[in-house]
Amino acid sequence: GDVQRLLETMQVGVPEGRVPARIFNDQAVYERERERVFGRVWCFLAHESEVPKPGDYVTRYIADNNVIVARTERGDLKASLNMCRHRGNMMCKSEMGNSSHFRCSYHGWVYKNSGELIGVPYFKEGYESKLDRKQWGLVPVRTETYAGLVFGTLDPDAEPLEEYLGGFQFYLDIYLKQGPGGSVVHGPPDHWVAETDWKICVENFSGDGYHTPVAHQFGFHLGYFPSSGATHSQGWAAHIPGKGHGIGLGHTPGMPPFAGYPPELVAQMGETLSPAQMEVFSKTRTAVGSVFPNLSFLIQPFSLVPGEPGVRFCTMRLYHPTGPGRMEMWSWCLVPAAASDEYKEAAYKAYTLAFGQAGMFEQDDFENWTRLTRVAGSSVAKHLEFPYVMGIEREPLSDFPGPGHVVSPYVTDTNFRGLWGTYTDYMLKES
Ligand code: FES
Ligand code: FE
Repeated sequence: GDVQRLLETMQVGVPEGRVPARIFNDQAVYERERERVFGRVWCFLAHESEVPKPGDYVTRYIADNNVIVARTERGDLKASLNMCRHRGNMMCKSEMGNSSHFRCSYHGWVYKNSGELIGVPYFKEGYESKLDRKQWGLVPVRTETYAGLVFGTLDPDAEPLEEYLGGFQFYLDIYLKQGPGGSVVHGPPDHWVAETDWKICVENFSGDGYHTPVAHQFGFHLGYFPSSGATHSQGWAAHIPGKGHGIGLGHTPGMPPFAGYPPELVAQMGETLSPAQMEVFSKTRTAVGSVFPNLSFLIQPFSLVPGEPGVRFCTMRLYHPTGPGRMEMWSWCLVPAAASDEYKEAAYKAYTLAFGQAGMFEQDDFENWTRLTRVAGSSVAKHLEFPYVMGIEREPLSDFPGPGHVVSPYVTDTNFRGLWGTYTDYMLKES
């Protein structure tokens, strides 16, 4: 009906630089996203370093399905729906922990963390041993991993994860392969709820350098953040056409290469990243990127004491829609596994100050995002469109070392047209 018409209009509008306000807060749009976007994509579940030991588990979501990601006793990773097969009770009620087995709190069925059903009360007396326990294990979820990231999909026909990422790995490595041993989570994630539509967050983290000098003005003025309004637009924006993944690479002229990283770590990164990746990364102050649909990363230097040189931190964040204009959010600090404890602590502090749950940048962003979500659901706004025309006539660079459609400067709507184009394709494609 009318969501279909909205999306058909959007399909024409996005390449011309127009996006309807209504997608950012609407019940019918939310319901279609749940099926046609989240029901089909490779959805981020966990970082392997969150579950290092046998028995470790976390629970996350794909669409509205709660999923347990566990390290089995054999050391492999297994993802299962968090649902008892007897009557459907939620098996595991905590967000993370360690357990070799899960026991349902209703009638007591017991499953290994790998999903096999191994215990049924009154198996002989009640079922007369006739229940085929092999058939009633937890529902498995198909997973694949890339550089420590565990993704799951509900679509049995989903393309391999490598194709889904479609070359975006070049940029992801900047976050995930910070030296030998890669990147690992530093402590548990911050996890909170927000009256914000997940799409605003993912758009922002696909390279919205435009808002930084305004929404985060204090950071420039007080000297927390090594950029200035005068040069902030400089750098590059890259996206993978047809895939929806995008990254903004902010560049501060005159800033020393890799500023904010310990020098020994930079030397080590030369062993894990390619020369082309090192070239791009060395010129990058801010790398803010998203994997379609709802996983984002950011690296940038941030000063622990205003005016002092910044410490480079990395955050990974996941947006889970729970309704129109509502979401749950997870935010992690990622650190290089090989770095000194001293640097890891400093990076964690910088992350917490800037992008933890109460981080200064986080507060600035959500204040704006919550308001515009509310407005998008109002009766007049839902008939309006927004302009996404910045950089619409700019030709892509032909000599950039990284893949994808790459433009300069950093501040542009180019990545967002790519993002909303892919989103519209998913929303319109029938099952
Ligand atoms: Fe789990 Fe009955 S619902 S044992
Ligand atoms: Fe921001």
